[in-house]
Amino acid sequence: MTVSLKKWVPAAFVCMAVFAMLSLSACSTSEQEQTNAGESDAMTLVNQGSLTVAASLDFPPFESQDDEGTPVGFAVDLMNEVASRLNLECTYLPTVKFDSIIPMIQAGGKADVGVSSFTITPERAEQIDFSDSYCDSNQGIVVIKGAYTNIDDLKGKKIGAQSGTTGLEWAQENIEGAEVIAYDEVTAIFAALDAGQIDAIAVDLPVAQSYVKNSYTGDEIIAEIPTGEQYGMVISKDNPALTKAINEALAAMRADGTYEEIYNKHFGV
Ligand code: ARG
Repeated sequence: MTVSLKKWVPAAFVCMAVFAMLSLSACSTSEQEQTNAGESDAMTLVNQGSLTVAASLDFPPFESQDDEGTPVGFAVDLMNEVASRLNLECTYLPTVKFDSIIPMIQAGGKADVGVSSFTITPERAEQIDFSDSYCDSNQGIVVIKGAYTNIDDLKGKKIGAQSGTTGLEWAQENIEGAEVIAYDEVTAIFAALDAGQIDAIAVDLPVAQSYVKNSYTGDEIIAEIPTGEQYGMVISKDNPALTKAINEALAAMRADGTYEEIYNKHFGV
């Protein structure tokens, strides 16, 4: 096979020109990075080599603890995979009170990311940055089987919800005259329902389904409310490089089927 040199020469010039353009643009990026030197473009981590995660581990099937206290669930598997794609060890802090996670991430120094089925809301986005959404959700209303049949029956009743959650806010805004009682942990809300201290629970629907199916089989879900919530991971506004890296890992996991694999493990039929 003979290739004429004439064809190769122009091609070589095109390559060189493209290469020159690329290196030129690379130069201008690094100049820009230098100008923004104060605003570091490298991610910061509370512990080198680790992605430290703060979570309220009371939210199966997303994040909870097994009998040995090991974090388990869809979001935990997702975070392990994200961390490994960033060449980091995934380290969960001992369970953290849900409504203290955003202030903790904002203050910095304790955890790099808060992953606790945080619904992406504009109010929260003023305090922290959200990753791209990794799951959709709605609200559910749980009662003791047969106690009430619909939301109208709950007017003026006691509704339990977790402090600082969208479920708590939903109950306050939508159940007329309800006395909404805030609990730190979802497990405590189900215990309170069982003990007759409250009449109903407002909590994310997949979590309601999980508790009713696995632990509180005497309870039932009487309403599914299509709030159309989307979960995002919570990262400090001072750490945009981490948000970017997490989003890239998530996108790659969706593209190569890993996300779906993890999703099916927890939600598949
Ligand atoms: N999605 C709801 C919210 O963002 C509830 C999340 C509660 N998470 C938890 N791990 N307990 O407010």
